Amino acid sequence: MSLELLQRKELFKQEAFWGGAWKKGNSDLKIEVVNPATLEVLGDVPSLGKSETLEAIQTSLDAFQDWSRRTAKERSNLIRTWADLMKKNREDLAILMTLEQGKPLVESRGEIDYAASFLEWFAEEGKRVYGDIIPSHRKDTKIEVIKQPVGVCGILTPWNFPSSMITRKAGAALAAGCTVISKPSELTPFSALALAVLAQEAGIPEGVFQVLTGYPEEIANTLMDHSEVRKISFTGSTRVGKLIMERSSKTLKKLSLELGGNAPFLVFDDADLEAAVKGAILSKFRNAGQTCVCANRFLVQKGIYNDFVSLFSESALKLKIGDGLENDTTIGPLINEAAVRKVEGHVQDALNKGGKLQLGGKRLESGKLFFSPTIISETPKNSLSMQEEVFGPVAPVYRFDFMEEAIEVANSTPSGLASYAFTEDYRKMRFLADNISAGMLGINEGLISTEQVPFGGIKESGFGREGSKYGIQEYLNVKYVCIGGF
Ligand code: SIN
Repeated sequence: MSLELLQRKELFKQEAFWGGAWKKGNSDLKIEVVNPATLEVLGDVPSLGKSETLEAIQTSLDAFQDWSRRTAKERSNLIRTWADLMKKNREDLAILMTLEQGKPLVESRGEIDYAASFLEWFAEEGKRVYGDIIPSHRKDTKIEVIKQPVGVCGILTPWNFPSSMITRKAGAALAAGCTVISKPSELTPFSALALAVLAQEAGIPEGVFQVLTGYPEEIANTLMDHSEVRKISFTGSTRVGKLIMERSSKTLKKLSLELGGNAPFLVFDDADLEAAVKGAILSKFRNAGQTCVCANRFLVQKGIYNDFVSLFSESALKLKIGDGLENDTTIGPLINEAAVRKVEGHVQDALNKGGKLQLGGKRLESGKLFFSPTIISETPKNSLSMQEEVFGPVAPVYRFDFMEEAIEVANSTPSGLASYAFTEDYRKMRFLADNISAGMLGINEGLISTEQVPFGGIKESGFGREGSKYGIQEYLNVKYVCIGGF
């Protein structure tokens, strides 16, 4: 089972954390968690529902009274201690993540660093939540603007980044003075629970950070319907993001929605071929293609097209698929059977419509979740993989003639999260920066995520920004105060 690899067994919790204690839940319902590499059951967690969520909300509200009134520096010290504990327990956290999520250990270690970096970042940002003094319109009044924490926040996070999506939200929320109820994916709850163990060890007070395990519907609906939960931050699909927006409208909550992407990856004739291929491998195959910011569609100019396809295929062939716990693995399994079926459907559709299989295209072993890195050249624009988020290790490549055409194709989907372009021409870079419809653009870079930058999308990829100086603002209300009688 490999859980014996953990140095600190107490990081593996099969209880949820709310109401000030580790508990099993008000019913005996449980959810089993499966290792996608071996299909073995790793353990189980309570399947919580409405009653436990209501308890958690009350605890969170009570905790908010004290937490929001502490000094920013006091909160900062606790959040930083939490980050330090993550770094100290990095290997155990990474093993847990690989066991439940499947990504290679090297990527899990990277994700723990990435996750801790958000806590460090926001521990500092919390001390810089400045207001304003505005010159008044009257001699006898003074005008000031203050920022206040929004209150209890529900954070709903996905299985593809089981730690960093939590800390990216919770770090900002806690630093702003909010309290947090975290609902991780039922597929990867153990990473979230381990974070709660460390939050408790760091001295983060009772009720400030709670973790509810279970299926999303009942917990999320209870959070969304409750008038005292003032903010929901969600990372996941556009379909669910729209449902959240609709349901939260009843209590007009503040929302941050980081939704699906369909990132175009443009390669121009004047690009550095090796850099473009390196960027393509990183962007496409990180986490087996299961990231919202993954390159989804490769748009390659005709002059460099053949060289790009052949070097890209040659490089992808070197990737080693396997159990993420094995040292030389560079691509792990997909998360579940449904994910494999979706990817198979995208490959078949592209081939049916005239695409040419350059590499891979199939599941490696019947009944298992390993899918080989796949490259399909001459993929037509109307194929599913060019229009929808693939969320798997499949790279459809499309040939274009002129920049205008590439931009038109790049901007032709309802999504607008990440985008990538490779060119050595500075004027083209500027033009692309102005004309690509996306919240993020990597130029000559395939990996653009880091804690300092505003991560987020436009169009149906959602709204709100995470990380950076902007991320904390999502957890603050702006209050204007007019003081008269001077
Ligand atoms: C995501 O896929 O939602 C997050 C990826 C990242 O932060 O790089």
